Amino acid sequence: MEIDVVQGAPEGVEADVLVFPVPDPAALPETARALDSLVEGRLSHLVEDGELKGEEGCITLLHSEGRIAAHRIAAAGVGDGALLDADRLRTAAGAVATRTGDVGGRSIAWILGTDGSLSVAEQARAIVDGTAIGPYEPGRWKTNGDPQPQIERLVLCGDGAGDAAEEAWHASVVVSWTNRCRDLVNAPPNELTPARLAEWAEEAAGEVGIGFEALGPEEIRSAGMGALTAVSQGSDNPPRLITLRYEPEGARRDLLLGLVGKAITFDAGGLSLKPALRMEEMKSDMGGGAAALAATGAIAQLGLPVRVLTVVPACENLPGGHAYRPGDIVTALNGKTIEVTNTDAEGRLILADALWHARSSGATHMLDLATLTGAMVIAMGDYYAGLFANDESWADEIEGAAEASGDHVWRWPLHDTYKRYIESTFADMKNSSDYKQGSPILAARFLQEFVGEGPWAHLDIAGTAYLERSRGDYYRGCGATGFGVRLLAELARRLSS
Ligand code: BES
Ligand code: MN
Ligand code: ZN
Repeated sequence: MEIDVVQGAPEGVEADVLVFPVPDPAALPETARALDSLVEGRLSHLVEDGELKGEEGCITLLHSEGRIAAHRIAAAGVGDGALLDADRLRTAAGAVATRTGDVGGRSIAWILGTDGSLSVAEQARAIVDGTAIGPYEPGRWKTNGDPQPQIERLVLCGDGAGDAAEEAWHASVVVSWTNRCRDLVNAPPNELTPARLAEWAEEAAGEVGIGFEALGPEEIRSAGMGALTAVSQGSDNPPRLITLRYEPEGARRDLLLGLVGKAITFDAGGLSLKPALRMEEMKSDMGGGAAALAATGAIAQLGLPVRVLTVVPACENLPGGHAYRPGDIVTALNGKTIEVTNTDAEGRLILADALWHARSSGATHMLDLATLTGAMVIAMGDYYAGLFANDESWADEIEGAAEASGDHVWRWPLHDTYKRYIESTFADMKNSSDYKQGSPILAARFLQEFVGEGPWAHLDIAGTAYLERSRGDYYRGCGATGFGVRLLAELARRLSS
């Protein structure tokens, strides 16, 4: 999506649809007054007749009949004006973009406001996000599909729009990688194998000019990654340990951001087999890995001056004659032994090796993303991911980036007492507890055994990476959200300034 910024009057801007926001109850904003007189009061007549509504996501279209440069005017409802925040604006932008596509339009001009609670930069980011995320179509595999065309050009206009140029460009790069991440997560598991994910990463790395490496099964085994080896051995599709390295000139030497993402390309549970109902959704169990890879692409394309090391362990978790068993004891890369008590608690195993690998490769600040526990879905639903951290200021940094990015997180506790849950009779620890208690927390506490020294945080994105049903906001459909890409890109931006 091409982005343009036009400082000043919107009536000369050429677009298929020129948009202004309307609060509920409906009233023409200051920015629409001039437009209203150019169209001879038609907008205020629609308000008077109750046809132009300010409810969130409600769009009213009017043909301009050549009275302004844009073909149509759209009034986009943003709901109660006093409550307007960036996510509501994203929802309005998503609705406008979808409606524009429905009427055959490809270009949108949005008039930024100067009087509300959101800065022009915040408005620009939200509008870019909603415009690109809203019309995303997950039905790519339908042969008779009518794919929702994407918006090709977005113009931000109005007084002060000039200040939004940088932010808008930034957001457009990040959101394009967010949609590429969604494509990966939505892809079926027969197509998106660990090897195919590694190929995707290699192509992306070539595109943005960063380092790429992928280890295969023998290299993973001989490196001492016994946990990743164990999980992967039930599948004929071989595992990969994917790494990306972004080392820009002029970056801080004292900081290496270590991004780690769980990439189980299909989680059947292994011998501790999952029930059949909705098992197909476990193709999304690589959402953390996909987000880490795609975010690294965005960070490199933006040229942010921060060093990044991304480590993504990728494999399948299947039952079979070669599958690892409950009762197996495996040795992770850091030498600790783990008794496998449930083969469906596989994410923490592959992350154990990947986290230790990232830290021993020099990562100073680590963040992992993983669709780790079903209990996180039950506890938090589809809007907030759970945040766990061993360092207060690192947690604050991540929370700040999350809030600004639209990928929301909620802090969870991480106390040493939870280590009791994973004490094993036979090994240094076990990978699951038989008590139905605190499962996201003990999973995080398990990961902590493998993070070494220094700040680390874990995001359990089980509820936010993949939607079973629409959220009813700017994520208009179900399926992958690309959760984490916007958050990680914002975090990298904050670390580099
Ligand atoms: N990938 C799942 C977690 C998951 C469940 C993500 C539902 C998204 C939606 C993970 O590997 C898993 O199976 N976790 C188990 C662990 C348990 C066996 C200790 C869980 O949370 O039920
Ligand atoms: Mn599992
Ligand atoms: Zn899993």
